Amino acid sequence: MIHPPAERTNCISSALTLEIVARTAALKAGGKPVLSLSVGEPDFETPPAIREAGKYAIDHGITRYTEGRGTLSLRKAISAKIARDQKLAYAPEQILVSNGGKHVITNFMLAAINPGDEVILPAPYFLAYPEVIKLAGGVPVILETEPRSRYLVSPEQLEHAITPKTKMIVLVTPNNPSSTAYTKEEIAALAPVILKSKAWVLSDEVYEHLLYDGRRQASPAHVPELYERTLYVSSCSKSYAMTGWRLGWGCGPPEMVAAAAKLQSQMTSSPSAISQHAAIEAVSNDQKDREEMRRVFEKRRDLIYSLVSCWPHVEAPKPEGAFYMFPRIDGVWKAAGKPYPGSLAVSAQLLEEEYVAIMAGVVFGDDRAMRLSFAAAESTIMEACGRIEKFLKKV
Ligand SMILES: Cc1ncc(COP(=O)(O)O)c(C=O)c1O
Repeated sequence: MIHPPAERTNCISSALTLEIVARTAALKAGGKPVLSLSVGEPDFETPPAIREAGKYAIDHGITRYTEGRGTLSLRKAISAKIARDQKLAYAPEQILVSNGGKHVITNFMLAAINPGDEVILPAPYFLAYPEVIKLAGGVPVILETEPRSRYLVSPEQLEHAITPKTKMIVLVTPNNPSSTAYTKEEIAALAPVILKSKAWVLSDEVYEHLLYDGRRQASPAHVPELYERTLYVSSCSKSYAMTGWRLGWGCGPPEMVAAAAKLQSQMTSSPSAISQHAAIEAVSNDQKDREEMRRVFEKRRDLIYSLVSCWPHVEAPKPEGAFYMFPRIDGVWKAAGKPYPGSLAVSAQLLEEEYVAIMAGVVFGDDRAMRLSFAAAESTIMEACGRIEKFLKKV
């Protein structure tokens, strides 16, 4: 008899949606007309110039280990990109390049959190957060938010949740799964509350270039008093359709970035040299392709919002960024005088009866909702929403 896996693997859960993914694949293999609104990545190819830069790296020997925190040329390029796009000043020594935004988040959490520290996490949240917090030994303090307040946290709510044990506050803007984004004023209103604590602010801005209706990205790092305590995270994944390249970056004070870089250097040595070379091209030159993708997403956002907002007894704020809608659906069952079966049961039934794959809200910390991704063709969005509406009418 040999030892079982370590305790730390028991404190985190694996994705609840795996069954649905397997069932979707089985139905498709059986020839069923399955439509998917479950995808969490852009349905575009990586732009050609970025692909060429990756090929160049492979053909020209840019294939070795690099500096653990990312090459100086990439960190300089990211520094220039952030100054250009977000008007934020981060020197190369304030930048850590990792294998995707998720890896940056993990590095920062491991670098900042001691066992028993509290981390404030607004729900609905990107599903990795509670697990990574627990992996770092932290205690997730979940703040529930409501569709009528665009799923955003209010200063009062935050004030109530902060304790002397609060080590970090997570803000994701635009958010996955709600697709809503804080305005400059909304962030400014949170600032005095945050400043009363000693907490770090982890600002996940991986969707920063997918904003609609002329919105501009607002970051806690734009508030001068918050700049020093903000750990700003972004990534090539969503902005440049590069999910598989695994390349993200985090910015903050040099000491915290150095601590996170030390952890990374022992765990992975460095991010992929090839992806880093391609990322230089992405962050330096590719605003045109990025903007084109954003426009397509905005058009799809208009379409899905026009469809979903007509569903009776469903509450869904208009997506302000990213590519998701997060309708609260339990009102449909309430209006019919029936018990709500829960989002996992709804997603399973929707798949079996109407052949539509969605993500159950429970995996994002809100069992009353479901996540619909509009990283799909307009024809798919229309047909899938029609089937969901038919399904809800049958309740
Ligand atoms: C809010 C949020 N943060 C971080 C990530 C991680 O992105 P990546 O690791 O591909 O950069 C995702 C991916 O879906 C996300 O939705």
